[in-house]
Amino acid sequence: MFFRGRRLRIRKEIRDLVKETVITPSDLVQPFFVVESDDPFFEKSIPSMPGQKQYGIKSLLEEIKKGISLGLSSIILFGIPKIKDDKASSAYDPDGIIQKAVKEIKDRFPELVVITDVCLCEYMSHGHCGIVKNGEILNDPTLEILAKTALSHAKAGSDMVAPSDMMDGRVKAIREVLDANGFENLPILSYSVKYASNFYGPFREAAQSAPSFGDRKSYQMDFRNKKEALREAKADLDEGADIIMVKPAMPYLDIIHMLNQSLEVPIAAYQVSGEYAMIKAASQNGWIDEKNVIFESLIAIKRAGASFVLTYFTLDILRMLNSEGNF
Ligand code: PBG
Repeated sequence: MFFRGRRLRIRKEIRDLVKETVITPSDLVQPFFVVESDDPFFEKSIPSMPGQKQYGIKSLLEEIKKGISLGLSSIILFGIPKIKDDKASSAYDPDGIIQKAVKEIKDRFPELVVITDVCLCEYMSHGHCGIVKNGEILNDPTLEILAKTALSHAKAGSDMVAPSDMMDGRVKAIREVLDANGFENLPILSYSVKYASNFYGPFREAAQSAPSFGDRKSYQMDFRNKKEALREAKADLDEGADIIMVKPAMPYLDIIHMLNQSLEVPIAAYQVSGEYAMIKAASQNGWIDEKNVIFESLIAIKRAGASFVLTYFTLDILRMLNSEGNF
């Protein structure tokens, strides 16, 4: 027989030789939730995300230290402030939770890439990602607050800012403020292609950021659309984005693939809380093999074209890579 696909599948060493996709520690970004608490050693499990916790600053430092010993190279931070109001004041407070956490983390682990999520929903009393007036989420008045927030992260030592609010024009507003303040070399990882997804539920419990009325469909993308993804990504590149993110990841592999084919920038993907929760729940029930499903899901996202992946499985995968070297 001329073609036998099985020749190259016959044993592991040969399969490994011809593999097209790999996962390495530097492909992975671990998200962390950091809480402004009087107890710096605060720790609280997140019920819908088994294995994930909210941390006080000191307990987060301990967790990061363990991560680094496994090969952790990059994290993204989400803050849970003490005070929420209708102007998101705690988001750009120089002594806010993210600003303090970044300072302490970078002092202790200067090599670690610390990405900060720039959004207002965790800091707003109503849980929306922008200023609200008469039930409407206002775009342009929100830009200034986002830019102020990004600048405060940069001043605290953030290595990369990641706007996730989906207001139009926010990348430009952030780029201008950063450049005007001497941060022209700070990259923007834009959540350009962020769908109004039902897979964010567990995150909103973890970050205490669920909207108190309505939904996010007037600013996040309609998941029935694909062309719009290219339009959003190109607009963000024109405004100065350095990396384009697609979110969620596994149900959106077609989008990751399209953007990777069409654009000359790195594409990041966010394997979101609902994706994590589904895999955890099924494996806790003994319905799927957790380790192998985690691995396959990450490979699929990378194979589609993601340069790197934000995933709550990062520390689990690093542990697996350490104990087995390869899969
Ligand atoms: C903030 C933000 C959200 C996520 C990342 N940044 C929630 C949302 O848009 O409601 C979701 C991440 C996840 O589900 O893991 N806007």
